[in-house]
Amino acid sequence: MAGPVAQSLTGINIKSSQNRLLIKNGRVVNEDGMEDADVYIEDGIIKQVGRNLIIPGGTRTIDATGLLVMPGGIDPHTHFELEMMGAKTADDFYKGTRAAVAGGTTTIIDFVLPEKGQSLVEAYNHWRQKADNKVCCDYALHVGVTWWSPSVKKEMQQLVEEHGINSFKMFMAYKDAWMLNDYELCQVMETCVELKALPLIHAENGSIIARNTEKLLAAGVTGPEGHALSRDEEVEAEAVNRACVIANQMNSPLYIVHVMSKSAVQALRLARTRQKQPLFGETLAATIGTDGSHYGNACFRHAAAHVLSPPLRARDTPAAIVDALAHDDLQIIASDNCTFHEKDKELGKDNFSKIPNGVNGVEDRMAILWQKAVNTGAMDPCRFVAVSSAAAARAFHLWPRKGRVAEGADADLALWDPRRERTVSAHAHHHAVDFNIFEGTHVIGSPQYVIVNGRVCLDDGELRVVEGFGKFLPTPPAAPAAYGARERTSDASDAPPADTPSPRASPVYTNGTP
Ligand code: URP
Ligand code: ZN
Ligand code: ZN
Ligand code: ZN
Repeated sequence: MAGPVAQSLTGINIKSSQNRLLIKNGRVVNEDGMEDADVYIEDGIIKQVGRNLIIPGGTRTIDATGLLVMPGGIDPHTHFELEMMGAKTADDFYKGTRAAVAGGTTTIIDFVLPEKGQSLVEAYNHWRQKADNKVCCDYALHVGVTWWSPSVKKEMQQLVEEHGINSFKMFMAYKDAWMLNDYELCQVMETCVELKALPLIHAENGSIIARNTEKLLAAGVTGPEGHALSRDEEVEAEAVNRACVIANQMNSPLYIVHVMSKSAVQALRLARTRQKQPLFGETLAATIGTDGSHYGNACFRHAAAHVLSPPLRARDTPAAIVDALAHDDLQIIASDNCTFHEKDKELGKDNFSKIPNGVNGVEDRMAILWQKAVNTGAMDPCRFVAVSSAAAARAFHLWPRKGRVAEGADADLALWDPRRERTVSAHAHHHAVDFNIFEGTHVIGSPQYVIVNGRVCLDDGELRVVEGFGKFLPTPPAAPAAYGARERTSDASDAPPADTPSPRASPVYTNGTP
């Protein structure tokens, strides 16, 4: 692991100027404002933000003239080294986090997904083993509750109290695999409330999908277009509504992952008018960067590469979803990065329901959002920071250590060049696959430098990550964004409190298991 400490000629460790960094002449962007300010970093922590800073000699200076100095992106939804549907995702924790950093993302949150019947703690330990020595940036974990029993409840408690987990994902789809029934969803949500953890939901009606799939296959519809036909917007919106009702009945906050359709946004908007506890909506780079027209592509490989669940929708969806992100109907954009090699997608050559579900996005998420939301005038840079970084930090209790450029925060930064032009392509990306769902998209705006815990990992456009440099971030329960409303009497919003706590007032984490 490369650290900020260099080896001297005498063999004694000395501090090199590598651990001191000054970012000069940039424009600092946070969710709540922008200012022209310099940023001084020491030992991986932001020490000063302002003008005319007094800096020790031997400090490396990056001239950020013309660049926006933003919190590194937080992608709260990835699947690296996941075995699903008979295949294993192509991006592992090294290649996946390397691609993340290349695109300006400096924290990812992956999903531990236990087999039905498997111990949750055992699955968690397996994920830590896969990730700890490979990650190029910091990472946290959600744990999937893919089956239910008293032992699962006990393990959820253990994961929260001893292993730094504060969020659990449930599936209303993937019948006969990860899907839970409504009674089980109630119990998992109740347990989350007891533990002050945040329940996450994959909202699609798995029973309807299963029945539609049977009928489509019987009618001879076997190609990738069948995937979208088996699960239309209503199937997603019904589940979003049901998940919200269950959460409301259980008096639980709720986070809906990968909201993919206008109908689902509408269901969320309606639910929010009656919801007692916070309700978060996450969408994906895929949702705003491409659409469901690709399912009709005659080339199986092309169409299958776009298969994910819920599916991509009609051509007017991307603009509507950007609008929902801009107006706070949705709060967060993730990638759901879950890449499969062509040979794995071919498992579904004769049956769309066997195509492993998942697309790329961890690398291009920030640039796609910038292109589709900031360059179009739908969002300003502050809202960009909110939806690509700060809101996820708040939801998962990493804020303000992550998601904010401020004294005391981790030095995770994206120095964004709003004028840098490029065309997204599999030829240039850092994923382990040779297909990119955003192929050919022209973007203006990309990172020129990416700083991970004080280390310059994208250096004037050159990627210089270190395998294993990232650390596991335990996430404590009772995130104010999810549970603070219970204590507040009047204002249930998760807007920053007037007296923003110091980043290091949040629990100080160590490398490794807490
Ligand atoms: O199609 C998807 N979304 N693949 C990853 C698994 C999931 O449901 O998040
Ligand atoms: Zn899902
Ligand atoms: Zn093709
Ligand atoms: Zn996912």
